[in-house]
Amino acid sequence: MINRRQFFQVTGAGAASLLTGGISSLVNIKETNAASNPSDEFLPDLDIALKATPSEISILPGNPTSVWRFKGKMLKGNQASLINIERSYLGPIIRVHRGEKIRIRFTNDIPDETIVHWHGLHVPAVMDGHPRFVIPQGKEYIYEFEVRNRAGTYWYHPHPHGRTGPQVYGGLAGLFIVSDDEEKMVGLPSGGYDIPLVIQDRSFDNNNQLVYLSRHHMEQMTGFLGDRILVNGKPDFILPVATRVYRLRLLNGSNSRIYKMSWQDGSPMTVIGTDGGLLEKPVYRRNVMLGPGERVELWADFSSYPVGSETALMSLPFDAGMIGNGGMGQGMMGGGMMGGGRMGRGMMGYSSALPNGAGFSMFRIKVTRREKETLSLPEQFSTIKRYQASDAVNLGNHRRFRLDMRHMAWTINGRTFQIEAVANDEKVQMNTLEEWEFTNENGGMGMMGMMNMPHPIHLHGKQFQVLERRGVTHNGYVDEGWKDTVLLMPGERIKILVHFGDYPGLFLYHCHNLEHEDMGMMRNYLIENAVTSA
Ligand code: C2O
Ligand code: CU
Repeated sequence: MINRRQFFQVTGAGAASLLTGGISSLVNIKETNAASNPSDEFLPDLDIALKATPSEISILPGNPTSVWRFKGKMLKGNQASLINIERSYLGPIIRVHRGEKIRIRFTNDIPDETIVHWHGLHVPAVMDGHPRFVIPQGKEYIYEFEVRNRAGTYWYHPHPHGRTGPQVYGGLAGLFIVSDDEEKMVGLPSGGYDIPLVIQDRSFDNNNQLVYLSRHHMEQMTGFLGDRILVNGKPDFILPVATRVYRLRLLNGSNSRIYKMSWQDGSPMTVIGTDGGLLEKPVYRRNVMLGPGERVELWADFSSYPVGSETALMSLPFDAGMIGNGGMGQGMMGGGMMGGGRMGRGMMGYSSALPNGAGFSMFRIKVTRREKETLSLPEQFSTIKRYQASDAVNLGNHRRFRLDMRHMAWTINGRTFQIEAVANDEKVQMNTLEEWEFTNENGGMGMMGMMNMPHPIHLHGKQFQVLERRGVTHNGYVDEGWKDTVLLMPGERIKILVHFGDYPGLFLYHCHNLEHEDMGMMRNYLIENAVTSA
C-alpha cells in the first residue's frame, strides 16, 4: 500500500511532466491503467459492480417507461451498503462509512458513451468521472478510492460531455450516503426515520415515455423543465410518517428546476445539513432554495400532528429570471397557491407547462401512526473550522468568474468547455486556500433580447465555504457549512473559499443546470503540485 507521501510523489511526477509535456502527458501517466484493471495493492472494504443499462419501469399507470438506470451488486463487503429503491429507476443508494475503501467496477451497457461522477466526493482526478474518461458501450471503468468526506448526502450521475442532461434525465442517478463517528454521536433520527428524497421533474408523452428537449432550441438555453414532479422516481409521492422526528435528506436531482421549499403551513424549516454534511448547529428558514445538484437536510418534527392529518412540502412561486429589457419580462400570474404569487415568466413561461418559479406541492406527507418521540434537537452537531479570507494565497487579487452568454451559448469568463483545455487563470497550486468569485450580473443577449438566468455553480473534488453573497434577490439560501454547489440567481455574486488539498490534476467547475453544462458552461481547473515538482 502506498502511503500519502509516496502518493504525492507519484502524482507529483505527473504534474511536473505536465509543465513540459502539456496535458496529454498527465493523462497518460496514471489514468489509463487505473481505468481498466483492479489494482492489487488496493484492498477494498466494498467491491461493487455497477452497470448503466437500458430498462423498463412502471412510473405512471399503464405502459411502463423506458429508462436508463444504474444497477448494482455487492461483490464483496456488507450487503447493507447497497440499498435498492423499490420500483424506481434511481440507482442503488451506496451507503458507506468514512475511511472505507471502495472499488466500483462500472460497466457501460447503454448505447452511448458515458462515465460516472461522484458528486461532492473528494477523490483523485482519475476517479472523478471527468468526461475525458468516457467509455463506450461494453467497456468497464474501475474506480478505487477511499472515502475521505464527512458524513453527508452525496450522489453519483453520468458526466459525458454534451450528454449529461439526457443521461441523467433518462434515469441515471443515485445517492452516495456517507456516515462517520462524529455523526453517530449526535443523536439524529436513523434507520426508517432517516429518509432520502430525490426530487426530479419529468415530462411524459401519451405512451408514458419520457420527453426531453422536444420543442425548441430555447429549451436548451433555459434548461429542460418537466411538468411532473417525481420523488425517488415516483409521481404523486406521499410520505407516510409517524408522530415523531425525521431526518429528511433532500437532493435536487432535476436538470434545471429550482425549488423554493416551504412547509405547507408556513412553519419554519429546521436545516441541519447541506452538500458537505451536517452544519455546526441548526439554522431556521421560512423557505429554502435548492438549485440543481444541491442537497439540504431537514429536521422534520411531526410529533404535534394528529394521526390522520396531512401536510406537504411546497415549492413556492418565485421570479426565476427573465428576458426582455430590464424587467419587462415579468408579470403577474395567479400562482393559485398561498394567495397567488408573483413569478417570472417571459422565456421561463414559454418552455414548459410548469415554468421554473411556478408554485406547486412537491410531495404530500400523511401522518399515519402514533409513536412516542424520544429525540430532541441537538444544539450542536459538529464544529466547522471557518477558512479565513486573510489566509487565501490570492488575497487582494481573487479569481473572478463571469457567468454570461456569448453567441447564444452560456459561458464562464466568455469561454466554453474544451475537453482538456485549461487557461492560465484556471491553474491553482496544491495545498493552497483561494478566494473565488462568481458573478451572475450581466446575463447576455439572447435571441429575444436580454437574458438573465439562475446558474447553480459546482466545483468537482472539493467542498468549499461561502464567504459572502451580494446582490441577493431571493431568500432561503443556506450558505453556512460545507458546499459543493451554490445557486446564483440573476444579479447575484458570491465569494467562496476553497482549499486545494490532497489530489493534483484536472477537475471541473461548471453550471449544474445540465443543459447549460452540456452546451459548454463548464471548464477545467488544474491543481498543480509545485512542491514536489520543484
Ligand atoms: Cu453533479 Cu460535474 O456534476
Ligand atoms: Cu447555468
